[in-house]
Amino acid sequence: MALTSSPGPIDMHDEAALKELIADELGAVRDRSFGLTTDVLAKDDLTTQVSPLMSPLVWDLAHVGNYEELWLLRAAAGQEAMRPEIDDLYDAFEHPRSERPTLPLLPPDEARSYIGTVRAKVLDSLSSARFDTANPLTSGGFVYGMVVQHEHMHDETMLATHQLRKGAPALLDPVAEALQKPAEGSVADEVLIEAGPFQMGTSDDPWAYDNERPVHLVDLPAYYIDVEPVTNAAYIAFMEAGGYDDPRWWDPTGWEWRNSSGKRAPAFWDREGGQWVRRRFGRTEPVPPGESVQHVCWYEADAYARWAGKRLPTESEWEKAARWDPATQHSRRYPWGEVYEEGRANLGQRTLHPSESGSYTSGASAYGVRRLLGDVWEWTSSDFHGYPGFRSFPYKEYSEVFFGPEYKVLRGGSWATHPLAIRGSFRNWDYPIRRQIFSGFRCARTPGEGR
Ligand code: AVJ
Ligand code: FE
Repeated sequence: MALTSSPGPIDMHDEAALKELIADELGAVRDRSFGLTTDVLAKDDLTTQVSPLMSPLVWDLAHVGNYEELWLLRAAAGQEAMRPEIDDLYDAFEHPRSERPTLPLLPPDEARSYIGTVRAKVLDSLSSARFDTANPLTSGGFVYGMVVQHEHMHDETMLATHQLRKGAPALLDPVAEALQKPAEGSVADEVLIEAGPFQMGTSDDPWAYDNERPVHLVDLPAYYIDVEPVTNAAYIAFMEAGGYDDPRWWDPTGWEWRNSSGKRAPAFWDREGGQWVRRRFGRTEPVPPGESVQHVCWYEADAYARWAGKRLPTESEWEKAARWDPATQHSRRYPWGEVYEEGRANLGQRTLHPSESGSYTSGASAYGVRRLLGDVWEWTSSDFHGYPGFRSFPYKEYSEVFFGPEYKVLRGGSWATHPLAIRGSFRNWDYPIRRQIFSGFRCARTPGEGR
């Protein structure tokens, strides 16, 4: 699969360069989407539903094209609707995932041809588009960036569908060499972040979402945060210590979840011949001890942290550890600096699993905290809310309708997240019971407490 590199800070005033980048990234993300829906699968695999939690793959495929038509052809270029009668089918708010297989969806060939026609018209209109700084929709190419990121997000969702799918492997498992190996030597397992204010969120990142805005100061007391996400080995220690059976470690709602779900291990794990194995994209393999644990829900992460004498970081603690540079008193776009660089994080579906603890040391933040971007989405203790001064843009169904206590914030992206769809300020959210996403966690601790 072709993956172009992310732009880093975009020069909003170089319209020609921006258009070239947009056209390249539109092409790259479509290659990725086709790789997940055409090359490898039979027609049935595209139209059937593997779980009520997910859409049929062909829904995601047509949905990204319909979203592109809505935003790039109708909203940005002022064109008429191509097929107004299908809008309802691909409106995520009209039909929950569970009911999507019963809809008269476009069959795979029609879906491909529809999104291909949309794309051809988009590339056509792009040449005469003006990225007027007075128009927030197009300034800095925002709406194009929004559409590219949207398709990458659905590609990650499609990977979760693939993971849930039963049967023979359908995706090529790239060679392990694509991932960095752990560095020699040992490091401290947690670092102290000194008390003080930092800049949270952003006001000047041209492709940032409304929920990342505006930049604002947050003053935090001192805290410790883990250098790396929690590994499979550490999680197995929690399991072997009876962690799933001791209500002391569990949030009351988490304990209810533990009782009603019957879960006693991360999703896709099984016990075989005295060891833990996992099913990963149709292959069964021993659980690798050094990799970050994934497919755990918020309740499991929260229980592990309490067992370990720690707690989950708040989302501001996560972001300060990831972005704040105390030397320059400035928040970085990425843990290592302002510009995205290949090889500093396990992002972009280079392999189909997280890397091991001790790798990607060049991706460390100013505080020496590692593997904040990529590998696994990290659960935080925070509910999803708007920042002070939040303004919904360009539509309230992206973020605002999800604000409230029922969603927990996840940070940092996973191995399945494309570099263009992640940065230090990016916020994801999901229900605390969800495990099909590529979710893990790291712990934090208040000095003088825990351990
Ligand atoms: C930001 C990942 C929670 O997948 O529900 C996709 C992204 N928004 N289409 C989701 C999204 C509209 C969203 N998440
Ligand atoms: Fe969507």
